[in-house]
Amino acid sequence: MIQVENIYKTYRLKDQTVKALDGVSIEAPDGTIFGVVGFSGAGKSTLVRCLNFLEYPDEGTVTIGDFGTISASGGKLFRDGKEIKERDLRLIRRNIGMIFQHFNLLDRCTVLENVEYPLKHTGKKSAEIKARGLELLELVGLSDKAYAYPSQLSGGQKQRVAIARALANNPKILLCDEATSALDPEATDSVLALLKELNEKLNLTIIIITHEMAVIKAIAKQVAVMENGKIIEQGDVYEVFANPGQSVTKQFLDTASSLGNLPGLIESGHELVAKKENEKLLRLTYTRDSVGDALISKIARECDVDINIALANIDIIQDEPLGGIIASIRGSDDKIEKALEIFKKCDVRTEEIERD
Ligand SMILES: Nc1ncnc2c1ncn2[C@@H]1O[C@H](COP(=O)(O)OP(=O)(O)OP(=O)(O)O)[C@@H](O)[C@H]1O
Ligand SMILES: [Mg+2]
Repeated sequence: MIQVENIYKTYRLKDQTVKALDGVSIEAPDGTIFGVVGFSGAGKSTLVRCLNFLEYPDEGTVTIGDFGTISASGGKLFRDGKEIKERDLRLIRRNIGMIFQHFNLLDRCTVLENVEYPLKHTGKKSAEIKARGLELLELVGLSDKAYAYPSQLSGGQKQRVAIARALANNPKILLCDEATSALDPEATDSVLALLKELNEKLNLTIIIITHEMAVIKAIAKQVAVMENGKIIEQGDVYEVFANPGQSVTKQFLDTASSLGNLPGLIESGHELVAKKENEKLLRLTYTRDSVGDALISKIARECDVDINIALANIDIIQDEPLGGIIASIRGSDDKIEKALEIFKKCDVRTEEIERD
């Protein structure tokens, strides 16, 4: 388990101070895939660097599995009241793998040498190190590239090497900072599939930091949404995205959905969403609890209203559907009112969209 309680981190520059982490608490149970999303500058990378103490928090505690609770204070780290030194942190870091956006491979070393690198100076014999390196390459599906150099690999393959290297010391936790942000969609999918497989096979706890909603949708079980150094929402990924409480969370949802086109369409006065008389523009949210089938045509018929779908999107999050529809509904006020009541009764959330 990783538990972070109330951590703060402020960067002091010449002419300004930046509160990168402003009282952040998260809890990721063992074996989970925990996503942290947020726009650029939200504090995601700072958070992940504080998890393996590449960066010391100013204040707060970090609890990591067997290593107990480490508290930060005055630029120092303590456990059970005793100060922890850099060299003690090495053992902790060995148990926490990390991968980055730009892979950080050693270009002059072969793929196998890259993977073996963290095993050097651990007292293991070179034959043992080589066997472990080959085993790791098999785990990530790159046995045939052992003697290639990083420059001879695709981006997705490079990230697989980085994953193999990060797992060399059998860590229980893998931190991923924008691990797929430099990859094309296909390579992204294959790296995400590998992470999911490793999560299941090794019971690896994965903390995945990203600004890409698609990554969270694909593999996260829990999610925390960050803004301005704070966690503004967290929980089960389906629950958070089916019932987003904060506007940043909604914006995120829309970044990976055709519904994200709505503000642009409204701004350009597009016919699909143009204001008409006796008409409201609605956003309908269908969750796993919603009665889906033919509801729109049924309501149109029963309530004598016209419903026109402008945009629609269905996601599958953790194997469950989550749908969003932008539709205009046209009719007298009382008929629209009745239609909205039926939507509500069928667990379809409705929100009116204002257009000025
Ligand atoms: N070493 C540093 N020195 C000074 N300021 C920093 C440092 N690292 C981060 N910051 C500032 O802290 C804030 C949070 O940065 P951080 O890198 O954690 O954001 P992020 O959410 O990872 O963003 P991105 O999605 O762009 O990677 C930003 O305002 C950033 O400028
Ligand atoms: Mg970052």
